[in-house]
Amino acid sequence: MQNTSKPQRVDIDLGDRSYPIWVGTALLQAPSTFAQLPKASAALVVTNETVAPLYADSLVANLRTQYEQVHMVVLPDGEAYKTWQTLNLIFDALLAHQCDRKTVLFALGGGVVGDMTGFAAASYMRGVPFVQVPTTLLSQVDSSVGGKTGINHPLGKNMVGAFYQPQLVVCDLSTLSTLPQRELSAGLAEVIKYGPIAAPAFLDWIESHIDALMQRDTDALAYAVKRSCEIKAWVVGQDERESGLRAILNFGHTFGHAIEAGMGYGAWLHGEAVGCGMVMAARLSLALGHIEPRYFERLLQLIAKAGLPTVAPVLDRHDNAARYLDLMRVDKKAEAGDIRFVLIHGQGNATLGRADDALVRQVIDQSCQ
Ligand code: NAD
Ligand code: GLY
Repeated sequence: MQNTSKPQRVDIDLGDRSYPIWVGTALLQAPSTFAQLPKASAALVVTNETVAPLYADSLVANLRTQYEQVHMVVLPDGEAYKTWQTLNLIFDALLAHQCDRKTVLFALGGGVVGDMTGFAAASYMRGVPFVQVPTTLLSQVDSSVGGKTGINHPLGKNMVGAFYQPQLVVCDLSTLSTLPQRELSAGLAEVIKYGPIAAPAFLDWIESHIDALMQRDTDALAYAVKRSCEIKAWVVGQDERESGLRAILNFGHTFGHAIEAGMGYGAWLHGEAVGCGMVMAARLSLALGHIEPRYFERLLQLIAKAGLPTVAPVLDRHDNAARYLDLMRVDKKAEAGDIRFVLIHGQGNATLGRADDALVRQVIDQSCQ
């Protein structure tokens, strides 16, 4: 396991867009954390109404030692606010403070704050630097890394956005102490995801440390965050803009996004929808003969042990499978309305593939019982 006394570094290798991820404790207030960033006169901290009272003072005090002006914008909290209207609050703050194109944006919060801040950074003055300071497990192991930014549209999740890499990612494990248990479980969904798609030994490790992770053992969390970031860095380093391999990171997300959109954003947490979506995608892989029943059971048990839902919600009482299929057609992986699923093959291997609607309907019916 990871020793948390010293911060650990993972590198995202993308040529001139490369950057480090730091994983450790008490990083928000450490003077060295942000010292390597390019010089600028102003910073804008973007956070939300839940995270601001917990961590904004520490971050702002630290940033004041290196920026003349440190501004802050506090957004409403929740997936339901990952919208154009909320995004505009960031632009309003940038313009009201006359921020120039060297201004550094700091995303302090979970994936919602991170995705919106990154998109604002990508588009303000056609691009300003930004730093991810993720404070949820999910954002530390996934959303803060790799440069996907954006907002939701009522008709589809994350449908408007840009690829835009941060300058730095700071995963301060100390912030996870205040995370509600349901959010911790949601983050574990994205940790578990890396096992079946790319890392069988990591899946074994998660299985044997799931209790420690659920109890927030710092060393266990440190290893889970670092290993997840390493796997994501390996994938993103080969396929930054998802022309192929990167799609495997969406294991469970095709079904999961349908659950989120169908239930209304925020009803199920993103990680909960992904957890249940992984059960559905694994069931489809099983139905196609790509995995053994015992492996399916193993994944199901682990997802349940992580406190995640394994039974899918009914989205429409009249024709539930049709509703899922309609929602899944609005997906960035779809081509001409043809749904493409991330399917697992054996252990630690995934590809993008199609399946007959009849088989998908059967999987949806089995998953909703
Ligand atoms: P979130 O940002 O909504 O955060 C979850 C909740 O925890 C919020 O209420 C937040 O205010 C609160 N919170 C955050 N930090 C806290 C802390 N330390 N203590 C107490 N409460 C805290 O959700 P999330 O799970 O972090 O992220 C989900 C979002 O990330 C979704 O919008 C999803 O689409 C996106 N995402 C993006 C990528 C990507 O590659 N860009 C990958 C995965 C997910
Ligand atoms: N979370 C999926 C990706 O970053 O590609």
